[in-house]
Amino acid sequence: MADTYLNLVNAAPLAGLAKRLGLPRPAELRRYRPGGPLLDGPVLLVGTGNGAQDLADVLLGWGLDVIRQHRPHQRPGAIVVVLDDVSDPSALSAPVLAVAGALRDLRPGGRVVTVSRPAADATEPATAAARRAVEGLLRSLAHELRGGATGNGILVGDGLPVTVTSALGALRFLLSGRSAFVDGQFLTVVDGQGVPDPDAERPLAGKVAVVTGAARGIGAAIARTLHRDGARVIAVDVPAAGEALAAVANNLGGTALQLDITAPDAGARILAHARDRHGRLDVVVHNAGITRDKLLANMDAARWDAVIAVNIAAQLRMNEQFLALDGLGAGGRIISLASTSGIAGNRGQTNYAASKAGVIGMVAATAARMPAGATINAVAPGFIETEMTARIPFATREVARRLNSLQQGGRPTDVAEAVAFLASDAAGGITGQTLRVCGQNLVGA
Ligand code: NAI
Repeated sequence: MADTYLNLVNAAPLAGLAKRLGLPRPAELRRYRPGGPLLDGPVLLVGTGNGAQDLADVLLGWGLDVIRQHRPHQRPGAIVVVLDDVSDPSALSAPVLAVAGALRDLRPGGRVVTVSRPAADATEPATAAARRAVEGLLRSLAHELRGGATGNGILVGDGLPVTVTSALGALRFLLSGRSAFVDGQFLTVVDGQGVPDPDAERPLAGKVAVVTGAARGIGAAIARTLHRDGARVIAVDVPAAGEALAAVANNLGGTALQLDITAPDAGARILAHARDRHGRLDVVVHNAGITRDKLLANMDAARWDAVIAVNIAAQLRMNEQFLALDGLGAGGRIISLASTSGIAGNRGQTNYAASKAGVIGMVAATAARMPAGATINAVAPGFIETEMTARIPFATREVARRLNSLQQGGRPTDVAEAVAFLASDAAGGITGQTLRVCGQNLVGA
């Protein structure tokens, strides 16, 4: 699962050769380390409205060095561009050129984050155009950044201040190493729900989380990350994976539940286990998933039905049970694993893409049924370095893992960090959405 090429091109003597030949030179990503700083270097804050000043005050309160004007050879660790008040595309010129002037000095692993409003909330055509223009600008800029730097945006619903809790939660996530493989994406804050995390280092302290498919791969990484952030973890997987499952659960001081999630009463059994052993359930992570790839012309009922049953039908049924049994209170969180295949489609994966697109539809529709203060979202990983992707033939794998703005595959922890953020109290105003963790895939949507 190691990316040997990445290691080689980052070390002499091959680094120079790769540069001369114009080969992809993926950078080591800046990832989160508990106890480490939120960001290296100052934050350049661009924007002139009240929102910009309010955000500057917040960043200062986080202990960051905030500068409002770039000077040559200053090395910002991040550029935050506050464009909440733009109502015409022609107003973008000044702030955009201020960003342009600082880009060459952005540090490796740096961040560009736009803070603006959703175009869908605008009634004036010029305002909607300006807001969509910010999205086009940011997505293109993210493709241009190098050195492991990323660009992402926060869309704050009309009527909410740009300093609303979940906008600040999203900003902290996007500035930090937790978002290393999130690139070219937008998070929308839909309402004022959400409360600040009591402890930035242990945002999930006191919560009980269940992770399905936790015996290995991304599920095991999610279990470890939620535990690191303070949660008590219930690890669920099929009985055949019992030994690996017990090892994950024991390692984290959590509990293991052997269960096939396609069982008709899977949701009720998870809830009973959580209440029995831990007294409550706060976070559900629907991670278990399978692939049964075949071109549609060769598809059979067994392959189609199995993928739909595990990847989407089981989640729909379990969610119904959690909601019917009042399984999740205010502050409850459901996070489902989708896939970029469910957004862009993928040859040989009609069944899988249908199931993962289904997940995206499900979270959008279930948001309205969640109890007040509770949320449901999806995370859509792109190419992640796991046992599954290690089995892809070499040439196909090399192409797949380089075809994103960061020119490398993500790690299971990158997906887990996004899940942990959406599980946090601070993300309470973000619901019904799908966050891609794909390094900004170049192919597809
Ligand atoms: P994996 O195959 O390594 O692990 C999946 C786990 O789910 C296994 O431990 C398996 O035993 C468990 N599982 C399968 N069916 C189950 C059932 N009926 N009941 C309970 N547990 C069951 O997969 P990986 O790579 O860790 O993927 C995790 C999730 O992320 C999946 O939903 C997958 O579709 C999604 N994903 C993965 C990507 C990747 O690049 N690896 C990319 C996009 C999405």
